[in-house]
Formats: sequence, structure tokens, C-alpha cells
Amino acid sequence: MRRSAMWAILAASALTAATPLAAQVAHPDQWPAATSPIPRDAAMEARITALMARMSLEQKVGQVVQGDIASITPDDVRRYHLGSVFNGGNSDPGGKYNAPAKDWLALADAFWDASTAPQGKLPRIPAIWGIDAVHGHSNVVGATLFPHNIGLGAMRDPALMRRIGAATAIEMRVTGIDWTFAPTIAVVRDDRWGRTYEGFGETPEIATSYAGPLVEGLQGRIGDRDWLKGPHVVATAKHFLGDGGTRGGKDQGDAVMGETALRDLFSPPYYAALKAGVQSVMASFSGWNGAKMSGNASLLTGVLKDRMGFDGVVVGDWNSHGQVAGCTNVNCPAALKAGLDVYMAPDSWKGIWETTLAGVKAGTIPMARLDDAVRRVLRVKMRAGIFEVVKPSARPLAGRYELLSSPEHKAIARQAVAESLVLLKNTGVLPLKPGASILVAGDAADDVARQSGGWTLSWQGTGTTPADFPAATSIWRGLDAAVTAAGGRATLARDGRFEAKPDAAIVVFGEMPYAEFQGDLADVAFDDAADNLAVMKRLKAQGVPVVAVFLSGRPLWVNPYLNAADAFVAAWLPGSEGAGVADVLFGRREFRGKLPYSWPKRADQTPLNVGDAGYDPLFAYGFGLTTRDDGRLAPLSEARDGASGDRNTLFARGKATGGRRLLLGPAGQPLVANPGPELIGQRPADRAAQEDSVRLTWTGRAAATAAFVGAPVDLSREANGDVALVAELRVDAAPTAPVTLNGVDVTARLRALAGRWGQVAVPLRCLADRARVARPFAMTTAGSLDLTVSAVRFASPAEGLVDCR
Ligand code: BGC
Ligand code: BGC
Repeated sequence: MRRSAMWAILAASALTAATPLAAQVAHPDQWPAATSPIPRDAAMEARITALMARMSLEQKVGQVVQGDIASITPDDVRRYHLGSVFNGGNSDPGGKYNAPAKDWLALADAFWDASTAPQGKLPRIPAIWGIDAVHGHSNVVGATLFPHNIGLGAMRDPALMRRIGAATAIEMRVTGIDWTFAPTIAVVRDDRWGRTYEGFGETPEIATSYAGPLVEGLQGRIGDRDWLKGPHVVATAKHFLGDGGTRGGKDQGDAVMGETALRDLFSPPYYAALKAGVQSVMASFSGWNGAKMSGNASLLTGVLKDRMGFDGVVVGDWNSHGQVAGCTNVNCPAALKAGLDVYMAPDSWKGIWETTLAGVKAGTIPMARLDDAVRRVLRVKMRAGIFEVVKPSARPLAGRYELLSSPEHKAIARQAVAESLVLLKNTGVLPLKPGASILVAGDAADDVARQSGGWTLSWQGTGTTPADFPAATSIWRGLDAAVTAAGGRATLARDGRFEAKPDAAIVVFGEMPYAEFQGDLADVAFDDAADNLAVMKRLKAQGVPVVAVFLSGRPLWVNPYLNAADAFVAAWLPGSEGAGVADVLFGRREFRGKLPYSWPKRADQTPLNVGDAGYDPLFAYGFGLTTRDDGRLAPLSEARDGASGDRNTLFARGKATGGRRLLLGPAGQPLVANPGPELIGQRPADRAAQEDSVRLTWTGRAAATAAFVGAPVDLSREANGDVALVAELRVDAAPTAPVTLNGVDVTARLRALAGRWGQVAVPLRCLADRARVARPFAMTTAGSLDLTVSAVRFASPAEGLVDCR
């Protein structure tokens, strides 16, 4: 069918569903016209037509559904004919976050084998596997971890981006995986967004200059024999469109703006990615003027496919179709009709497969639309040679584990780290002399997980140990090597204490790892989890010059730290090659990084973008000193303005937060702060500090509940991800009857925590009404029980998960 005809049908059928408002409908003719850079291959299209003629309807539906390896087996792929699988940030072979590389390859073979095993007369269509290789092949132990995009944005080096893409593709091929959900080419307009670090900058310019070389590094060049094959993979430009423009920087939120702003701010990098031949585009979780992107026909079909000439695959985001008006995770014709070609249906694949099949049979989903989606999937597979190649482990580079963190890849990453550092202040202490005596302090100095941030082995980048980074170099190790090689002396002391006074101190500190909405902030102030400021001040008082190395996924208000330091370096999230930091601090390389995002002067300064009326940053977009510049800085105000508030914490340092209170009482009845000691009581307790915890005592006379109660909050986004309610506690007297937490039986877990501290975690998906949760923590038992709680939060749990499934 001709494209324009398809568009007319879609537009008409959109009217029968929820009719979009005018502000939610784009006008493709107002967007620059583009054509696919890949010439139509008539022979290939004929081959697809012939193949489709032999496919069953079930097979066609299978090509447009993608399940997560945590919820799907190779046998499911065979039975439901799924065209692809993927792994979310927390899904790994065998459920082990640190599964060895060979397990990934073996699982890739298992899915391929299942999809190609003979099934009567049906044609065999190999399945492909998508992964978030977003800063290197970052789910796999031993892979090179490149700086996150924010740091790459600072280096302004498109040629190096090509090499980073190529190295990432090679490491993916080692483990048999052929499709990455990268690059993120978001333009980020509000740094409170938890995904700020996944963007290259606040203007379209950097992402636009990077999209082409990076896509070509990953995929190869159109027309070359190894395009999408051999050392290359299929890339994904994400998240289309306006993901970084949501109101308040809210993840999965809503971009409220006119069509011109949407087009001019966010689409230029997509034009560049398409021109380089990117084969898939991921539809955003976010919305535009109240309508979710995954259901927006005017943008997915009208703009992206018809106007911009995209002939590859539009893949959804993690159950993003479920957020489209009128849809659920397991039923969403509207997304397919709008132009989504593959549902990313982690745990919902079977349901969406069944309802899609039924919809096509009943005629509520046009057969022409399904056929178009299938054709696109098959086209990408044919271009990538999927029908010709053998199973993943028999392909070039597969199983060559020595290529993970190969010397060549490490050198590329180290160069990227060095180029990404942005010097914000320097009274003259930098560059340091490597032959000197250097003290290295700060709570992140020797911690590869802190250097690497989210999307590192786990979704949130948490729960790992140093042993999980066998090939990496921490910033401390890099500094130590440089100093020792030059005949100097380096000492590591987190707290900055020393015996012999050093010539200078380097303090490495910054944000804790996070990903997606778990990283959303109420303002842009830096909240230090440790006392690095005191360390810096003490060193200064002792006459030791201080170089601050700040690890963060975004610019943050750090005025007190800027005042306390003699030099201040924004190091972003550099990844596995910490030695790149030493290269620059000791003058082997000059600073060349320039800010990809404006640096805030105030904690409540959001949004803050170059070009805004009244633009008044502390350091402007593009700022970055060299050691030859006069980098002195007048003392800055230390008054913190803003709305600090951590949405993820319910109880910490002995206090309930977020306006909640700890209430107690008979189960099923209204709760109060202090019901008297007969049934259930609370009193302050100590763990690490005085009264930083609470002790709860159930007497067992009747069923009683302890709950953190507040205004209802919407936890649907968290419940859709792997987020759990995590309580940090010690059981002082074991339960004598079953105990539930949010309705889930946690008795066994509590018994395991008798006399010791640990976590009890219950997935938020176990909550009955996730959209309005007034009691995100409610523990009930009819028996007696005595326990001490030191913290309660929403997090991706490291241990102690008790599931309701
Ligand atoms: C997955 C992530 C995903 C997130 C979405 C997590 O459980 O591991 O890959 O992005 O959920 O909410
Ligand atoms: C994220 C995507 C990612 C997907 C799969 C989603 O939650 O938004 O960027 O590709 O999960 O992990």
C-alpha cells in the first residue's frame, strides 16, 4: 500500500478510538521532508512478500511482540513464534545480575535455536535479541564501560563517538546479541530528570553531531558489505519524541509545548540518525500535550515514517503501550494502529499476543497494518543478514571473550574519560605534579560502581561488588599508578586523614547510582550521602590544596563544594577507565571538555537552558577552562533555595518523610500514633546514630498493623518497573504467627533476620491499587513480634525480595 493511503486509513481509524485533541496532532507537512538513505531493494521486498505469504497469522503476530528473558523461555518463543526477545536492566541469564559472558552467548543460542527449529511447513524466522548497551555493553561483566552520554557530550568529539560505537558493537557480538537500544538522542531540558545523563546535552546540536557517527560505529556504513553484520549490530534511536522535554523533568511525563518547539528542539538528532541508516526507533514512554507518544499516529506514522522516510522498525518501550489511553499492558490495538511495529511487552507478551491475534481476526486491527509492521521487522532482519547467518555462537567474534575490555577498547574509553572532564575552577593547583605526595580521599575514590552510575550490570547500577568489575580501573587506582610511575607517593584515605602532610589532596565524591524515574529530583541541589564537604574543609584548614572530582549524572548546585575546593572538576559518570582522570589531573593531557548542560547558580534553578529568557547560569553551556586559563572564582552564596525532597524515602534517620507518619493500631481499624502498649507500640532506637531507627513491638493479643501513612501517591510507574518497598530492619524477637507486609507473607524472611540487619523487600506491583497508595508500608501480624527498622524506601532491592506472584 502507498504510504499516503496508509496514513489516510490510520487517520480515519484513529477517529473511531479516542479522538486526539488538536494540540496532540502533528502536521507532517510542517516538518522537513526526508527520504530513506537506503535504496529500495526490489528483490528483497519480493522475498519478504513471498515469505509473508507462507507465514501463519500466529507467526505474523509473533513478529510484533517482544518478551523479556526474565519472563519468557526459548520454548515460549517457539510456540508463540516471537520475533524478538530483550532483557531489561535487571534481567540476566539465569537471573544472575553478574552472569558470565558465556551464559549470555549460550542463552542467545537457545533463543535462536528455538526460533529456527522446524515446525511443519511454516517458514523459519530467526529471533533477534535487544539489549540496553547504553554505555558500552553495560549489562555484561567484564565489558568496557564508556562514560555515560553526558560525559561524551562534554567532549564534543564526533570521531571518537564512531569508535565508541564500533567497540560497543564488537563487545555485543562477543556475547551473540545483535540489537542495542541505543543511542539515546534525547535533548534534555530539565536536569531534575533522572535520565539527564543519558542525553548528550540541553541543545539539539551535540546529539545531532553525534547521532550519525555513533549509529555508523554501531551499524557500519550503508552499502558496506558488513553493514549490520559481522562486527556490527542494529541500533535504536530513542525515545521518540520529546522525552527530555517533559514538564518538571518528570520521567515518563508530558511534554507540554507547541508543534514548532517539539520539532525544532527534539527532532534534529533523529534526522541525523535516520540519515545514517538507524534501523529502529523506540517510541517514548512520555506524552505530548497529554497523549502518550506510543499511541500518537500523527507522529509515529505521519511524521516519522511518512515524512521522514523511516522504513525500519518502531519498537515500544517497556509496556509503554499500556499507558496509551484506553490500553492495558495486555491489550492495545491503538499502539499498533498508531504505528508501533513491535510491542515491548516484558511480562505481558502472552496477553498482548493473544489480544492482537484476536483483534486481527475480528477485524478491529487492520490486516494491512499488521502486514506493514511484519514487513518492517523482516526487512531489518534481512538487511542484517539474519536469515543467512548461523546461530549466534557460530558468528564472527562470538565467544572471543578477550575482546571484552580489550586493550584497544580500554584505550578508547580512557581517552573519552580524559576528554569529558570539565574544569570549572582552578586557583592554580592544576595540573598536579605526578612526582608529588598526593592524598586521595572522598567516598567515591575507589568505587567503579559509583563511577559508572545506572544501567551498569543492574538497572539502577546498584547491588554490585568490586569483584564484578574485573577489568576496570577505579579513579584511585589510576591516580596511584600515575603518581607511583613518576616516583611520587599516593595514599588513599576516604576520610582525608593523614600522618605526613601531602602536597595536595584529590577528593572524589558525588551522586549515588540511579536510573529512570528513581533518579527524578525535586530540585537540582546535590545531596551528599557522606561528609565529603567536611573532609574538604578540614584539608583546606590544614593548608592542603584540594582538587574536587565530582561524579554526577547532571550539573547540580554545589556552591559550598566549589567554595571549599581549590580546583573543581566535573567528571560525570566516567565508567570503567578511571585512569583517564589521572591523565588530565597530572597534565599528560590538557582539559578540553565543555559543559553540555548549563550549571545552576541556585538549587531551584530549573529549567535552565541556553537561549531562555533571563538565562543566568553559574557556568554557561559550553563553559570549560584549561589549566592555562585564570580559573579563580569569587566566593559563592551557600544559601540553598529550593524544594528538596526525595520521593523515594519513607523513613530515614529516625523520621518518616514525605509528609507521612508512622501509625499503629488494631488491624483493619483506623490507626493512630500512640495506641498504648497493650497491642502494639513504637519507640526510638539506635543503629548507627542516636535515635536513627524505630523499634516496633507487637504483643500478640490481637492482629495489629504498623504503617507509614500519608497523602495517596501514584506508584504506577514504579510498580511497572522492578521497584520494591524495601525495609532495612533487624528482628529482635521472632514472629509467633504469620506476618504480612503490604499483604505479602514475609514471615520466613523475618525469621532469617533474627538478630541481624538485612532487607525485606516486596515488589510494588503487589500493591492492589497502585495509582493511589496512602499506605506504601503496612505490616500486620496477629502474633507477637519485635523488630527495629532503620530505613524504608522505594528501591531496586539487592536482597530479601519476597514476591507476591
Ligand atoms: C527494567 C528496566 C526498565 C524498567 C522500566 C525495570 O524493571 O529492568 O529495564 O527500564 O523496569 O520501568
Ligand atoms: C527504558 C528504555 C529501555 C527499556 C528496556 C525502559 O524502561 O525507558 O530506555 O530500553 O526499558 O530496558
